[in-house]
Amino acid sequence: MNFVASSGPISVIAGWGHALPDSCVSNQELMRRGVETDDEWIVTRTGIRQRYMAAEGEMTSHLAARAARAALAKAGRSSADVDAIILATATPDNTFPATAARVQALLGMEGGFAFDVQAVCSGFVYALSLADNFIRLGQARRVLVIGAEVFSRLLDWQDRGTCVLFGDGAGAVLLEAQDHAATEAKPRGILSTHLHSDGRGYDLLRADGGPGSTGTAGHVRMQGREVFRHAVTRMGEVIEETLAAHGLTGESLDWLVPHQANRRIIETLAERLGLPMDRVVVTIDQHANCSAASIPLALTVAAEDGRLQPGQLVMLVAMGAGFTWGSALLRW
Ligand code: UT7
Repeated sequence: MNFVASSGPISVIAGWGHALPDSCVSNQELMRRGVETDDEWIVTRTGIRQRYMAAEGEMTSHLAARAARAALAKAGRSSADVDAIILATATPDNTFPATAARVQALLGMEGGFAFDVQAVCSGFVYALSLADNFIRLGQARRVLVIGAEVFSRLLDWQDRGTCVLFGDGAGAVLLEAQDHAATEAKPRGILSTHLHSDGRGYDLLRADGGPGSTGTAGHVRMQGREVFRHAVTRMGEVIEETLAAHGLTGESLDWLVPHQANRRIIETLAERLGLPMDRVVVTIDQHANCSAASIPLALTVAAEDGRLQPGQLVMLVAMGAGFTWGSALLRW
């Protein structure tokens, strides 16, 4: 667990942005394309109404660079100001190098360092935690943290239990070091992050291929009900852990920004927290599950439409394959 130091740099979100492919595909459109499903099942079981899908040739790096440029513009910074890029993705352009290196080049950066993080749907929270550590330790002053996916490339269109669930997109934040005085009671920025994984869940949600096994990328395979159960339990636990670490209760939160895998999971979490749904950011209806991009997409949508206000307490919480899960508590 990382905690805000009593003094020294704290990581503040100075800019944010997102990018979506042009093509928006409704549930009805999936049915027209031959997926044996129906809109009512998808909406009632998941909350998903549509997803965006990358065009041929459109890759994770392209979406990531667009989101990063938007975050830089919002912060009034240029790529020359950035010390590091941490990109969370399960759908890299190539097996190697890291897609973050491609993004670095697309942004015209000639310095700094860039690497990918693979924690699937928890990737953005993992990346944010790493970036926060670099900033606290003084190894970087500004870090672009990006979640970007072209998850549609991993879907088996014959498997209706998974192919209706995912979409493509990217979200980015610029984390900036701000020195704060020990006397400051309510500093803005990341207050703590909490990361977990449990490899015993490896086979319950995975791609059935990989460069080191089949030589192919594989397709998404998921035991949905088991994953659902773990998602509710693990995210619930890490929310409690985070609140307890700060002596807070669910009611103290202004916003919960959860991973967007299933509206029913999100509603269960909110209910357990005693948090009304109008303090929970839900974008799954628009974007479906964009894996590592889900949380930064939801965060940037809520920031853009003015829901997030300076000084508010925001909890990010994620759960994904691995299993991985984690949270970040921040003051906006
Ligand atoms: O992002 C990482 C974390 N991921 C998650 O947290 C996902 C967790 N899991 C889930 O969200 C849910 O388990 C799913 C949405 C994936 C599935 O919902 P479910 O209520 O667990 O459904 P199920 O898989 O148990 O299937 C129930 C029925 C089955 O029919 P029968 O056997 O009862 O006749 C399925 O064949 O729903 C059927 N079904 C569908 N019907 C129409 C499954 N997929 C579809 C579909 N359209 N797309």
